[in-house]
Amino acid sequence: MKAADAPTAEAGLSAIPRHVAIIMDGNGRWAAARGLPRLEGHRRGVEALRRTVRASIDLGVEYLTFYSFSSENWRRPAQEVADLMGLLKLFIRRDLATLHDADVRIRVIGARDDLSPDIRVLLDEAETKTRANGGLTLIIAFNYGGRAEIVRAMRRIALGVAEGTISPTAIDENLVSRHLDTAGVPDPDLLIRTSGEQRISNFLLWQIAYTEFVFLDLHWPDFDRAAFEAAIRTYGARERRFGAVSAVESKTG
Ligand code: FPP
Repeated sequence: MKAADAPTAEAGLSAIPRHVAIIMDGNGRWAAARGLPRLEGHRRGVEALRRTVRASIDLGVEYLTFYSFSSENWRRPAQEVADLMGLLKLFIRRDLATLHDADVRIRVIGARDDLSPDIRVLLDEAETKTRANGGLTLIIAFNYGGRAEIVRAMRRIALGVAEGTISPTAIDENLVSRHLDTAGVPDPDLLIRTSGEQRISNFLLWQIAYTEFVFLDLHWPDFDRAAFEAAIRTYGARERRFGAVSAVESKTG
């Protein structure tokens, strides 16, 4: 057995998803239930994110995407928006060196132009510093919306057509994927959403065509290694057919 297989075998995990995407919901409710300010919920949410990064490295997940700030989150009170921006900055400043040492490659998806210059500089620095790393790819979806991402891809493709570098007949699913913010990243195998809500909220709309969804009742700050492993076990018990017939049916039928 390879050393990297040990934690997965120990935890009884048969299939490790290559790409896990997470909607970290419930920070506010977690805080409200304890009479704490929402910011405290978000702070504890960052701790849960760190735990999940560590667990992913340990379990051999290759890509991990977090929905950290959606394009709709600007509708929140100005103070909360500022708090979330502050937490992102703090996270990059405090954790970048550790992530780099752990061979993590950071990628950021979403509309960068609307963010303040200091955040743009930090995000660029995180991507540039970790570009050559070969371990876990940590994808931070920040100021991200799935529809807006598809629109950006359409514009890039239209520009290519207008400039004569893309032929309209060459536009296929592969080419669209290559023009998304997630270009080069395999589609998520597993999407986890915490806090009981069962919706997608404009996350990775194109990429989740065949993703398995696991919805958990616990709030994001309570998400821990045991919850992560349980979600992966649920994923492992699913049969992914990608539109084909079941393997059992095709053998018997
Ligand atoms: C959902 O909880 C959570 C968010 C909208 C933001 C998540 C952001 C972080 C954990 C920190 C910033 C990001 C990084 C990468 C450091 P909610 O506020 O919607 O909870 P509620 O539905 O219970 O109100």
